[in-house]
Formats: sequence, C-alpha cells, structure tokens
Amino acid sequence: MKITIFGTGYVGLVTGTCLADVGHDVLCMDVDADKIARLRDGEIPIYEPGIESMVKSNVANGRLQFTTDPAEAVAFGTLQFIAVGTPPDEDGSADLQYVLAVADTIGRHMNEYKVVVDKSTVPVGTADRVHAAVANALEARGETIDFDVCSNPEFLKEGAAIEDFTYGARIVVGTDSERVKELMRECYSPYNRLHEKLMYMDVRSAELTKYAANAMLATKISFMNEIANLAERLGADVEQVRHGIGSDPRIGYQFIYPGCGYGGSCFPKDVQALARSAADVDYQAELLNAVESVNRRQKKNLFTKLSQVFDGDLTGKTIALWGLSFKPNTDDMRDAPSRTLMEAVWNAGGRVQAFDPQAMKECRRIYGERDDLTLVADRIQAVKGADALVICTEWKDFRTVDFEWLKSNLATPVIVDGRNLYDPQTVKRAGLLYYAMGRGDSLKTPQL
Ligand code: UDX
Repeated sequence: MKITIFGTGYVGLVTGTCLADVGHDVLCMDVDADKIARLRDGEIPIYEPGIESMVKSNVANGRLQFTTDPAEAVAFGTLQFIAVGTPPDEDGSADLQYVLAVADTIGRHMNEYKVVVDKSTVPVGTADRVHAAVANALEARGETIDFDVCSNPEFLKEGAAIEDFTYGARIVVGTDSERVKELMRECYSPYNRLHEKLMYMDVRSAELTKYAANAMLATKISFMNEIANLAERLGADVEQVRHGIGSDPRIGYQFIYPGCGYGGSCFPKDVQALARSAADVDYQAELLNAVESVNRRQKKNLFTKLSQVFDGDLTGKTIALWGLSFKPNTDDMRDAPSRTLMEAVWNAGGRVQAFDPQAMKECRRIYGERDDLTLVADRIQAVKGADALVICTEWKDFRTVDFEWLKSNLATPVIVDGRNLYDPQTVKRAGLLYYAMGRGDSLKTPQL
C-alpha cells in the first residue's frame, strides 16, 4: 500500500518507519529541507531505541523515502497521514496552523481520491476543520474530487514507541465511511493478526479518546503525588501505600508511581488543551485543572526539599543532578522536572553539576553555556565536589549506588530523590540523609 506521512517529527517518523518495515511503500514529507537531507543519509533527528537501524534498512530496500516536494507527497499515497506538531497556544489550546496547512496542501495538489488521516493529537472537531480546509483548497482550483478525513490517534510512549506501534493495545479509527474502514484495515493488517485491535468509532469520539487516555494517566500520577505529599505529613510511606492499593485489580499497579511530576511532550500539553476545550464549550473542567496544578506544584517539590536542607540559602552551593530527561530512554527535556529544579537552584544563587545518559546535548541546546551549569561525563563526576545530590530521572544506571562512596564525596550527605529509587533504611545506615517523595520522614528538618 502507498502511504504518505506529513511531518518527520517523533510521531511521523516512527509511524512511517514502522509502516515501511511491515511492507508498505512510505513517503515522508517535511518542509525542513535540512532534516530531509539528513534523514536520507540515515541521520536520525530524535533519540528512540531501535529507530536508526529500522530507518536505514527500509531506506536501503527502497520502501521508505523522504521528500520536501508537496506535489510528489500528495500524489504518492492514497492514505495521507498528518503527523505535524500541535504546540500549545498562549492560552493552552492546541495550535492547529501546521495541521491546517497540510490539509490545504493536500487540497491544492490532489488529483484523485485521498483519505486524510489525522494522526496528530488534535482537539475534538479538528477533522471537520481539516475537511473544510481541503474542500476550500479544492474549490479554489475549481475541482470536485472525492476525499475523506478520519481520526487515527497514536498512543506511543517515547522510548518504547516502536514496541507500542507494533504491539499496541488498540488501533482507534474515527470514521463513518466503509471505504475508509477498509483502507485503514489494509494499512494496519500486519498489526492485527493475533486478535482484533481495530476500533471503529465516530470521528469526534476518536479525537476525544486520545485526550481522555492521556488525561486519565496524568490524573493517576497527580493523584499519587497528592497521596505522597499527604503521606509525608502523616508519617506514612507512599511506596507501601502504592503496593497496598495497586494489588486491587480495579486500581492496578501501572502509572501509580509517585515522583517529581510528569513532563514530556504529551501530558502537560494535552491536559491543558482538554481543559481549554472544556472552557470553550462553557464547562469548567475542575478535575483536569487540579491535575495540572498538582503537577506544577510537584515539580517544585525537589527544590523545596533541597532548600530546607540548606535553611533556604543555596548561595554558592553546588548541586549534583542525576537525570535531565523527563523520563528514562529519551533525550527529551520538554517540561522535564529537572528544568524546574535547575532554574530554581540558579535563581537561588546555586550551581548545577549534571549528568544524563542521553539528554546532555539537548540540555546544552536549551540553556547554552553558563557558569552555573557544568555537564559532566558520568554520574560519579557529577557528585565530586558537590554539596548535595538530586535525582530527577530513574535511568537504569542510577538504581544501584555505593552509598559509602557517595557519603565520602558529598560535602553535605544528602540525597533528594525525585523517583524513590532506594530503600530509605539502607541509605540512612550509610549515614546519608534521604529525602524521597512521600516516604514518612521526608519532610522533617534534617539533622546534619
Ligand atoms: C505518554 C503516553 O503514555 C502515551 O500513550 C501518549 O501517546 C503520549 O504521552 P510519554 O509522554 O512518552 O507517553 O511518557 P510516559 O511514559 O507516559 O510518562 C509521562 C510522564 O509521567 C513522565 O514524566 C513519567 O516520569 C511520569 N510518570 C509516569 C510518573 O510520574 N509516574 C508513573 O507512574 C508513570
């Protein structure tokens, strides 16, 4: 099957590469000529385990191609996937200018039946706007060519995107057209062999499904963070509470890990956009707003704890930081808790000495060279000469630590752990103060 993908960002590149890998002919289009040139040379603009070899092998066998030519892109596939960005507007709503620009491009160049597939995360009602944009462009040419628009949201996690694309729990298709259903079934048939994963629904329900999924997951996290904050104040251990509630199958163990707040390109943006959509239809989404505000507060939690340790004065202190990305297995620092922490430390007159297995280049891109930020080659160097250690991301390499060594290298024997990686008793036995998230005495005034 011939498929065109607009947008070679995270979602577009993963979708295009995976579809080529199962035998489709895929043409990926992007307006960024430099990016396309690099992709043709096998250079991957994102960090995602497994993607590089997959792109290279499918470019080599000719099933995956790249272009900047819109006419070529529109002529290529019957399915035209829109996978361009929907960044937040100033008021938190999704900015649809790139999505609608692609719709216009399709309308301007199409010469036969096309299915426009909305893959980007877009507010309810966007398919109608995409439909209108394609129709307007056709009308301006004086053409009447048949086309359909459907919604096909993605549920990919960064760091596990290929696996999620291949083994995802469901494939949601929002359409009422039998022709579209058939074409989408053909497109996804390699992923639909073991059991029926395709879920057809009306287009608005499909659009809302994506937001509802992310908002539900974000709600679970903010809820647990609230319980963690309560546990600290009540002298309970949230990790024991997590075990206690997760064993109830109605609650389950997934996505109830307390921490220093959710980040990334989806949860913060999507929760806000859904709340904004609600406000647009005169509905106050109280729960969604609370999920967002609990998360904002949680991201400040690490600094609050750190600040307590030093009696509110971080002037001249060097903070070792393990983990910059918003979660492991990605170099993505969008809305990462590490950024909230670093910026607060800098504002308080402190320095940061940071290590991350993947995100240091990204950190340099965001913050540039600065006197109060040193990026070091490994976690050990981050600790040398530092006053205290803060952990923002649960990378595998941070899970085991020689606490004796840590104690002798930190000027103040303190770990502020935003991911609850260690057993508090073990850390304390080594003579370190351990401030984790929601673990009993994590709020008490330190005795140095
Ligand atoms: C998410 C959704 O999982 C995915 O289905 C959707 O398509 C895009 O958004 P992603 O942003 O890649 O994927 O990250 P995810 O693994 O879901 O984690 C999001 C954030 O939640 C991270 O900051 C993570 O640290 C945090 N998190 C996750 C917790 O704090 N606790 C948890 O229990 C789970």
